Amino acid sequence: MIHTRDTLFVNEKGHLTIGGADCVDLAEQFGTPLYVFDERYIRRMMRIYQDTINAEYDGHGLVLYASKAFSCEAIYAIARQEGIGVDVVSGGELYTAKKAGFPAEKITMHGNNKLPHEISEALSCGVGMIVVDAHSEADLIEAEAKKRGIIQDVMIRINPGVEAHTHAYVQTATPDSKFGFSVANGAAEEMTGYVLSKPHLRLRGYHCHIGSQIFEKQSFVFAVQKNLAFMAEMKTKLGFEADSLNMGGGFGIWYAEGDAMIDVEGYADYLKALLSTIKEGCKTLGLRLPFVYLEPGRSIVGEAGITLYTVGAIKEIPGIRKYVAIDGGMFDNPRYALYQSKYTAVLANRAAEEPTELVSIAGKCCESGDLIGTDFNLPAAGTGDILAVLSTGAYNYSMASNYNRNFIPPAVLVKDGKADYIVRPQSYEDLVRNDVIPDRLK
Ligand code: LLP
Repeated sequence: MIHTRDTLFVNEKGHLTIGGADCVDLAEQFGTPLYVFDERYIRRMMRIYQDTINAEYDGHGLVLYASKAFSCEAIYAIARQEGIGVDVVSGGELYTAKKAGFPAEKITMHGNNKLPHEISEALSCGVGMIVVDAHSEADLIEAEAKKRGIIQDVMIRINPGVEAHTHAYVQTATPDSKFGFSVANGAAEEMTGYVLSKPHLRLRGYHCHIGSQIFEKQSFVFAVQKNLAFMAEMKTKLGFEADSLNMGGGFGIWYAEGDAMIDVEGYADYLKALLSTIKEGCKTLGLRLPFVYLEPGRSIVGEAGITLYTVGAIKEIPGIRKYVAIDGGMFDNPRYALYQSKYTAVLANRAAEEPTELVSIAGKCCESGDLIGTDFNLPAAGTGDILAVLSTGAYNYSMASNYNRNFIPPAVLVKDGKADYIVRPQSYEDLVRNDVIPDRLK
């Protein structure tokens, strides 16, 4: 099943199109493997979240694109044009955002073990917010801020203890988590006191992220309720009333049959539920309405992207399975190897044909687990066919590697049928750029 969502269509030639561009032409022009992103889709998703905050919450909030989902200069340029903020989790993401001209005051810095140089870089460029996730971080930020004679806005990452129904590897708010300070065991309260005692830190409020690829609205509602209850407790116990609340990201997207297909308005509904829970809760608990941050990553870029491959070797093991090998694999998409993630694939040059067989799609790495997945329904694929794997915009390029010294594929951004590079192809020279042979090996 192909879902269109105004992004993917089949044209009169029977070719798959994305953002008005024929995928077969894209493969010819740019080669494969190739990441392709639809600019309109990305912009629409960025806007729907901010528009909803503007309409339902008097604009008292900011959407932060979680750039770990897909980080390159162009995506920060789009976020800048759309007027939203971004979240970064490393010096590298921060550097990329700054290089793209992204305004520092709209950047929130994350990470469970921010390095001293990352904290120094964040303060020297003036990031708007740092989410503190360890005592040692609070100490480091305090020292850097003091040195510079500034007061840094911070939030504390808390673990509200909400279990979201998603794959175990991407749950982050269960009691056993490397992220955040648990509300239940008193750690979040202790950390609040700790941060409040630092003269160069201005504590704005709390952050939580309950997981990723979540479809249950109720999980977000519970998380909001737990956060507000904790905020009320800190107001009573410590006299600290938070003025900001960051609810993280996590909205699920469609990958394959069985996943909900949420339209743009549906994502607005998630946010509306979250915002109305905040409004009701604050009224009940006598809290002022916090400035709200939201950090969607996957839902902004995930379905906006596809990956194009060329089919190479085909191997049928009688009675067992048929492998269709592509010119990519776990080095451009490690999510099956890591999480057994499901995907949908389409033969882009024969997209109007009915599927006739069930195949596994294999990558070209020297590793049995290097698959894009098993059980893909396709027309009988032949060498040279162009295979499109859908919903690969999030956590594919950003998690890619040069494993087996394969190239991380380039990426193009499509708008109204026209494609431009946003990540250029790598070369063999790029692969050896940092290699050194010490003299004794010569
Ligand atoms: N904020 C924080 C603090 C996060 O840790 C994350 C994701 C997000 C926002 C964005 O969540 P999203 O809206 O994208 O679900 N590599 C995994 C996903 C890891 C997500 C980590 N944190 C995957 O490929 O599924």
